[in-house]
Amino acid sequence: MSTMNLVVLPGDGIGKEVTREAMKVLNHIGSKYGIDIRSDEYLAGGASLDEYDVPVKDEVIDACQQADAVILGAVGGPKWDQNSKDKRPEVALLRLRKELGLFTNLRPVKVYDALIEASTLKLEVIRGVDLLVVRELTGGIYFGQPRLTESIDGEERAVDTMEYRTSEIERITRVAIDAARKRRKKVTSVDKANILATSQLWRKTVSGIAAKNADVEVENMLVDNCAMQLVRNPRQFDVLVTENMFGDILSDLGGAIMGSLGLGGSGNINPDKEFPSMFEPIHGSAPDIAGKNIANPLGTVWSAALMLDHLGEAEAAQKIMAAMDKACTDGILPLDLGGNFGTTEITEAIIERL
Ligand code: NAD
Ligand code: IPM
Ligand code: MN
Repeated sequence: MSTMNLVVLPGDGIGKEVTREAMKVLNHIGSKYGIDIRSDEYLAGGASLDEYDVPVKDEVIDACQQADAVILGAVGGPKWDQNSKDKRPEVALLRLRKELGLFTNLRPVKVYDALIEASTLKLEVIRGVDLLVVRELTGGIYFGQPRLTESIDGEERAVDTMEYRTSEIERITRVAIDAARKRRKKVTSVDKANILATSQLWRKTVSGIAAKNADVEVENMLVDNCAMQLVRNPRQFDVLVTENMFGDILSDLGGAIMGSLGLGGSGNINPDKEFPSMFEPIHGSAPDIAGKNIANPLGTVWSAALMLDHLGEAEAAQKIMAAMDKACTDGILPLDLGGNFGTTEITEAIIERL
C-alpha cells in the first residue's frame, strides 16, 4: 500500500464545498487502489485572515512544502475586497505558487460529448476540442516590481510591472514543447509582441527554443487575436503557452468553451519536483452561490485526478475521469451545466460509478 500525504486548503466560499467533495472521491479511490490518502487541512485566504490576520501562515507554507501534493479550493470574497494589498486573500495563492516554485500552470480544456449542450457556443465549433493552456505562473505582472499606489498632483497613481527574464521564458517553453510532443505536436505561443517589451523577449526566446525542437510546430499569435480564435475555432489549438496574466484570462475563456468555469481543473506544477505541486480548480470562490450546495465540484474532482496522475497513479486518475464522464452522460449535472443536481449529489453519483 502506498501513502499519499496531502495538504488541503479549502480557502473561502465554494472552495470549502468543492474540496470536501474532491476529498470524498479521492478517499474512495484510495480505498479501491490501495493508496492510503492522508490529509491535513489548513486555513488559507480570507479564512486565515479572519483567524490569524495573515492570508497564509508560514507554517502552512512549510506544511505544503513537506507534503506530496496540495489541493486548494479557492480564496477571496467581497468581505476582504477593501483590504490593503498585503492583506488580501489572493496573496495566499501568490505566495504558495511562488514559494513552492510552481512556475507551470496546466489548464486542460476538453469538450466532453456529454456536456456539449452546456456551452453557449455552437456544437460544430466546439465538438472535440482538446487543448492545453500552459500558463507561466510565477512571473510577469503578478510579481514584477515596482508595484505601488501613490498620491501625485492631487490624485492617485498606481503602478504594476510586467517583467520576464529569458530563463523564465525558456523553462515554460520547454514544458509546453514537451507537453505538445505527447499530444498533437503543435504549440501556439501567445503574446502581445507588437507592443510589450516582455512579449518581444518572449517571442524571441520561444523562437530560439523552437528552432532546437523542430519535431514540434511552434507558431506565434497575438493575444487579442487568440481570444477571438478561441471562440471562433478552438479546435485549431493543441498547446497554448503564454505569460501569467494572458493565461489567466484565456483559461477562463477555456472554461466557457467547455460549458462552465466550474468544470476547469488545473495543476500548478513544479516540473523538477523540488517541491510538491498544487492542484486547484480554475474558478474562484463564487460568493454568489457559496453555501447553497449548488457549486459544480467537477473542476476540483478533475484537479484531484490530475494530481493522482502527477503522483504516478495514472490508472486511478483515469477511473475518476471515466466515472465523471459516466455521471454526466447519465444526466447527473450541476446547475451551471444545465442540470439540477446539488454539489454533494454529483460526487455521490461519481463515487457510485467508480
Ligand atoms: P469566480 O470564478 O468565483 O466566479 C465567476 C462566475 O462563475 C460566478 O458567477 C460563479 O457563480 C461561477 N462559478 C465559478 N465557479 C463555479 C462552480 N464551481 N460552480 C458553479 N458556478 C461557478 O470569479 P469571480 O466572481 O470573479 O471572483 C470571486 C472571488 O474569487 C474573488 O475574490 C476572486 O479574487 C477569487 N478568485 C479566486 C481564485 C482562486 O482561488 N484560484 C480564482 C478566481 C477568482
Ligand atoms: C486563478 C485566479 C488567480 C489568478 C487570482 C485569484 C490571484 O484568478 O487562479 O485563475 O489570477 O491567478
Ligand atoms: Mn483566474
